[in-house]
Amino acid sequence: MNAKPKVWLNDKIIPWEDAQVPILSHGFSRGSAVFEVCGTHIVPGGVAAFRLDAHLKRLEQTVSLLDMELGFPTGEIAKAVSKLTAINKSERGVVKIMAYWGEEAIINLVLTSKLDVAIFTIPATEELGLDGVKPLSACLSKWKKLHPETIPVQAKACANYLNGYLVRKDANDRGFDLGLNVGTDGFLAEGSIESVFIVKDGILKTPPLGRILASVTRDSILTAARQSDIEVYETTLVKEDLYTADEMFTCHTGSKVPPILRFEEKEMEAPGPVTVKVAEMMDDIMSFKDTRFKDWFQMLYRN
Ligand SMILES: Cc1ncc(COP(=O)(O)O)c(C=O)c1O
Repeated sequence: MNAKPKVWLNDKIIPWEDAQVPILSHGFSRGSAVFEVCGTHIVPGGVAAFRLDAHLKRLEQTVSLLDMELGFPTGEIAKAVSKLTAINKSERGVVKIMAYWGEEAIINLVLTSKLDVAIFTIPATEELGLDGVKPLSACLSKWKKLHPETIPVQAKACANYLNGYLVRKDANDRGFDLGLNVGTDGFLAEGSIESVFIVKDGILKTPPLGRILASVTRDSILTAARQSDIEVYETTLVKEDLYTADEMFTCHTGSKVPPILRFEEKEMEAPGPVTVKVAEMMDDIMSFKDTRFKDWFQMLYRN
């Protein structure tokens, strides 16, 4: 990234380079930081965030699941996102919100202080691939998803991403773009940073909540599909469902609806007909052709 946008840190606007934490901070040395990532879009009259309210609700849920407390109420964080995006003149890109214990914790494992909050705006670059729909290859990871009774997987906690890192590393080492994993119970979970949908006999299916992150994009697809006559089920799936799927796609805030072209050795139509329907549905929503979900866009600043 060439331009260094400003950062909002605990109610101060500071240079990007100054947004630092001590190496022995709890957030870093114990890996206890949590975060959210939300898309920003150019919309008629200004720049808006896609479902910032849902992302902030998930942030509240994350800290509640981990018995932590944010240093700022989410209403203040929403205002800070607006202020920072206006200062940085952010357009298409993402906003990353980090909440963490920035204080040093040499031996202390349980802290009682409120979490520091930092907000970053990250412009869309080719590397970020925000609007890419390149067909991808995927494999079944040798790593199982974290068991929800060992750590709350619905918390968007940095520590959970070590599991995601291993899944992606395993996939990349085997020549695949991404890995999908099943839980220790054998049920399909998700990818490292993405939710997964499959299509079998024209019916769209995705794993239910419980052992996966409550993805805002997944929820948007489910909500819009149900109002667009696309038959969709949240249902437990096993690895055999992946091997026998007709179509497959993933989704997350940082991507459109990238179809899976190859799963392990199996080639698939990518995008297949149902995936095309879903991708077009989401494109129409994101480009305001379909205004049924215009409330999903929250104006950050007007130009
Ligand atoms: C594990 C995991 N699943 C799913 C997703 C997709 O979530 P969202 O649509 O809210 O970006 C993410 C996004 O970061 C993720 O990390």
